[in-house]
Amino acid sequence: MASCSTMAFVTLTFVLLFLGSSSAQLSTNYYSKTCPNLFSAVKPVIESAISSEKRMGASILRLFFHDCFVNGCDGSLLLDDTSSFTGEKTANANRNSVRGFDVIDKIKTAVEEACPGVVSCADILAVAARDSVVILGGPNWDVKLGRRDARTASLSAANNNIPPPTSSLSNLISKFSAQGLSTDEMVALAGAHTIGQARCTSFRAHIYNDTDINSSFAKTRQANCPSTSGNGDNNLAPLDLQTPTVFDNNYYKNLVSQEGLLHSDQELYNKGSTDSLVSTYSTNPSKFSSDFVAAIIKMGDISPLTGSQGEIRKNCRKIN
Ligand code: HEM
Ligand SMILES: *[C@@H]1O[C@H](CO)[C@@H](O)[C@H](O)[C@H]1NC(C)=O
Ligand SMILES: *[C@@H]1O[C@H](CO)[C@@H](O)[C@H](O)[C@H]1NC(C)=O
Repeated sequence: MASCSTMAFVTLTFVLLFLGSSSAQLSTNYYSKTCPNLFSAVKPVIESAISSEKRMGASILRLFFHDCFVNGCDGSLLLDDTSSFTGEKTANANRNSVRGFDVIDKIKTAVEEACPGVVSCADILAVAARDSVVILGGPNWDVKLGRRDARTASLSAANNNIPPPTSSLSNLISKFSAQGLSTDEMVALAGAHTIGQARCTSFRAHIYNDTDINSSFAKTRQANCPSTSGNGDNNLAPLDLQTPTVFDNNYYKNLVSQEGLLHSDQELYNKGSTDSLVSTYSTNPSKFSSDFVAAIIKMGDISPLTGSQGEIRKNCRKIN
């Protein structure tokens, strides 16, 4: 009896260790022996891309989010469509919207030159996202590494998992909760909308029909976003009207003054359970920075492929 329960305990311990191991294997020094120049290979490419176009930092940060929310941070978003599967680039949240793949290709080329066949595209995204935030004035953090690349992608999971801009607060909470991220972590991660741009089609209903919006701000945005769908759909507006190329806490100040661009943004400050955290971040930039860092590290831990799972892609757009 005693040995039987000991066996059960040992087995259970191994099962728990095994289940916990996928994210436990990521580490900040993963490539310290195999690719010591990884960071110095990535950084100049990102710097040059952002100096040509500041928005690119935002676009790259968003790629990391859209990769991680679809079967984990596994580079699946980067795969082009093939005859055997449809990739994620045409998912609702991505079609005519995600950008920066050419920059990821350039980084991959530089990294392959430094250390051929060693660094995954999934890890390149994680490093490029961090570098983008830092270059635009945001916080720094040590990136956990050791992810491997998926050999497939999922259009249906992309459509299901990435929340649309029409989302209610409860929908946002449940989409993040499905990825193991708390409501507070969701509020911190949404602060990424302190940089970058959105298309008229993403905010049209909010600026014409919602009531939780400052009316003079709505008028300003209506000037370049016609009310009828099909007109000016791709016209851009900054997600943070004050400093769209600086990673700061202005996003939360905008929400407090009802100047969120997306319906989903303003949902975080619309007399709901997240109002108080938004208000805290609007006046406490260092708390926002440290919470954002903790949350994006946790986002980067979502279901990585490790060990012998997946592969190290040679070209981020296709499986080997
Ligand atoms: C909370 C749920 C979220 C929703 C509903 C959402 C939705 C959107 C939408 C609709 C756009 C504009 C796309 C377009 O019009 O083409 C956008 C842009 C962006 N999103 Fe989010 N997002 C969310 C969370 C996040 C997170 C967690 C991050 C990163 C950590 C992020 C980073 C960005 C960035 C940086 C842009 C600007 C991209 C550019 O200028 O190219 N978003 N998001
Ligand atoms: C605003 O709401 C009305 C009534 O539901 C709808 O017909 C119209 O298309 C909406 N306009 C926008 C820009 O979403
Ligand atoms: C809307 O914003 C403008 C400009 O920031 C401000 O002067 C005005 O008081 C705001 N209106 C409302 C109704 O909050």
